[in-house]
Amino acid sequence: MKAEIVIKDEWYQKLIFDLKKLAFEKIIEIKHSIGKRILKDISRFGKPKYGNKTIKNLAEDLDCSQADLYACMKFAEKYPELSNDIRKFSWFYIYNHLLYEHKEKSKENEWLRIYNIWNLGKLESEEDFFGIFPSVFMENLLHYHTEKNDLIYDPFAGSGTTIDVCRKTNRRFYCSDLVVHPGRKDIEKWNVQNGLPKDLKKPDLVFLDPPYWIQAKDKYSKSSDDLANMPLDEFYNIFNNFLKLLINWKVKKIAIVIAPTQYSNINHEFEDHIFKFHEILSANYRIEMRYILPYSTEQYNGTQVEIMKKEKKAINLIRDLVIWDLKID
Ligand SMILES: C[S@@+](CC[C@H](N)C(=O)[O-])C[C@H]1O[C@@H](n2cnc3c(N)ncnc32)[C@H](O)[C@@H]1O
Repeated sequence: MKAEIVIKDEWYQKLIFDLKKLAFEKIIEIKHSIGKRILKDISRFGKPKYGNKTIKNLAEDLDCSQADLYACMKFAEKYPELSNDIRKFSWFYIYNHLLYEHKEKSKENEWLRIYNIWNLGKLESEEDFFGIFPSVFMENLLHYHTEKNDLIYDPFAGSGTTIDVCRKTNRRFYCSDLVVHPGRKDIEKWNVQNGLPKDLKKPDLVFLDPPYWIQAKDKYSKSSDDLANMPLDEFYNIFNNFLKLLINWKVKKIAIVIAPTQYSNINHEFEDHIFKFHEILSANYRIEMRYILPYSTEQYNGTQVEIMKKEKKAINLIRDLVIWDLKID
């Protein structure tokens, strides 16, 4: 969302400039001291609207508390000598400033997830490619489970997130996909049904972000070799063969990200893929870590929610990321 201020008049510009300076100094103070008092005010205020955005929407955009936003608003209100327009501008300014601050922070170290539930901030979504594994998650995965110079093998490379983050964090990589996107010459064309590529050196970590079975039907390609376009037993069979190759090679770490299939399944049956993969790996590997990467509730529209309510079925929002580590013989 943009809140652009266009000011023509010269004196008006100077006033705004001073106000902006003051506002910036104040916001720091406000952010640290306002606390519960503002929260009380929120309940008094009800739900005011700014443009077509509620305070709740804006707070979500900024990933900051509604209390902070109300604090900004109240700050602008403190100056009754200013015209309504200027008070509004000062509020917009603070809002913009918060947005800028937040973006800057995200660029630096805001990517680090401290807990094992990884939510995606609104400013971190990357929606250009269906099924993309957000780079912020890849950064965390590499941070927690690999070292500099490690070789990462990704046979479902898609848009190339793994390569981009490996480059940024000094990891080596070997990435392939059934469908190689034009412009990604760094991704090899390879079908996992053909096993492991001959020129692949033993990786330190294999990252598997396959199509989530029929949830991605026809989304990546119409090919019958595409894991999204085949019956479940075939999907598992291919995975079984591929994982067995990694087990025999004694690859140190295997990471798989996948969501259970539910809404797109027959009778909305809950098919928990990650458990199936654990069955294949558990004799040789121990789970080093499990992360939950929740989807937003916007995944489902009103009709779908009503259908599931009628069927008395809770709706899946979980995506699992599990890292297995080779057991020592
Ligand atoms: C979930 S996407 C991967 C997204 C990727 N991690 C990213 O961030 O862009 C799954 C990928 O698996 C690929 N795929 C499907 N079937 C395959 C197969 N049999 N062999 C290799 N890749 C396959 C699809 O083309 C798709 O790009």
